[in-house]
Amino acid sequence: MPIILAIESSCDETSAAVCVDGGILSNIIANQTIHEAYGGVVPELASRVHQQNIVPAVQQALQAAKVNKNDVDAVAFTRGPGLLGSLLVGVSFAKAFALAKNIPLVEINHMQAHVLAHFIGDNKPSFPFLCLTVSGGHTQIVLVKDYFDMEVIGQTLDDAAGEAMDKTSKILGLPYPGGPLIDKYARLGNPNAYQFPEPQIPGLDFSFSGLKTAILYFIRAHVAADPDFIQKNLNDICASVEKRIATILLNKLSKAAVAYGIKDIALAGGVSANTGLRHGLIDLCEKNGWRSFIPKLEYCTDNAAMIAIAGYYKYLKGEFTGQDVAPLARMPF
Ligand code: KG4
Ligand code: ZN
Repeated sequence: MPIILAIESSCDETSAAVCVDGGILSNIIANQTIHEAYGGVVPELASRVHQQNIVPAVQQALQAAKVNKNDVDAVAFTRGPGLLGSLLVGVSFAKAFALAKNIPLVEINHMQAHVLAHFIGDNKPSFPFLCLTVSGGHTQIVLVKDYFDMEVIGQTLDDAAGEAMDKTSKILGLPYPGGPLIDKYARLGNPNAYQFPEPQIPGLDFSFSGLKTAILYFIRAHVAADPDFIQKNLNDICASVEKRIATILLNKLSKAAVAYGIKDIALAGGVSANTGLRHGLIDLCEKNGWRSFIPKLEYCTDNAAMIAIAGYYKYLKGEFTGQDVAPLARMPF
């Protein structure tokens, strides 16, 4: 019955979770609203806020799980990828806690943890499965052969899907992070109102920078003709952009599923909270006789529950990390 305390601090969410024997008992997420005013995450501010949030987040996670800090068997933490200053706060806390309690440390790759969030709860995919991991910094099609045996078979050559969402919202004058707002307005609009281009990238890779430029030029031209264009058509613009991003993602995912003969298809990462993408994957899988796996909303964006479940499986393997561990801003699988 291992009790794992998990820490996530890779970007702008400070999160702590407790997992007992593979079950998540608590998942505390402290969001950082300070970045809204800047239109994006400011790394130095993010690390300072992590510093303030980390102890209360851990205390709340232990309290909500009704677990005493002396009963924790191991500390799992995000080693990377992420913002170095942000990671440093979580890594330092995890090391200090493990040292004080004389318990093992378990390092976790944040992108693998997004994938392993599918092992929280009962509806688990079977190996091998495909996972489209879409966040603010990554867009990857991952072939998941086992818990820690994953291969990236397609990825973005430039911007991530979440960046495309956030940059579009910035062009539209919406606050950061824009993804959830695009989702909100898209529900009220016509997804076929405007046609944005689908990049022609060979294989299973993605590109979103051309789409971003196309959206920028489209908005500029229309605003030049009518300064109220955005206000009048916000819902239709968001619905059309969301549809294009979702179709780019799902077309490649479908190509990968056929190429690799895989029938269990999963979504992960912050952008997997997107309603259009979630519905699109369900439709795609129904048409092809595949099974779709869509995480609960609280496990889509950054959270420590996914670090805890990944930590649990690594703990069972007996793979521990030394006290000399340092965070890695870039961390391949
Ligand atoms: O995984 P995540 O929380 O952090 C990173 O590791 O990057 O992903 C954050 C990204 C942001 O770009 C945000 O705009 C996007 O996920 N996002 C969404 C939605 N919720 C979050 N994008 C579209 N629709 C949403 N509902
Ligand atoms: Zn993430």
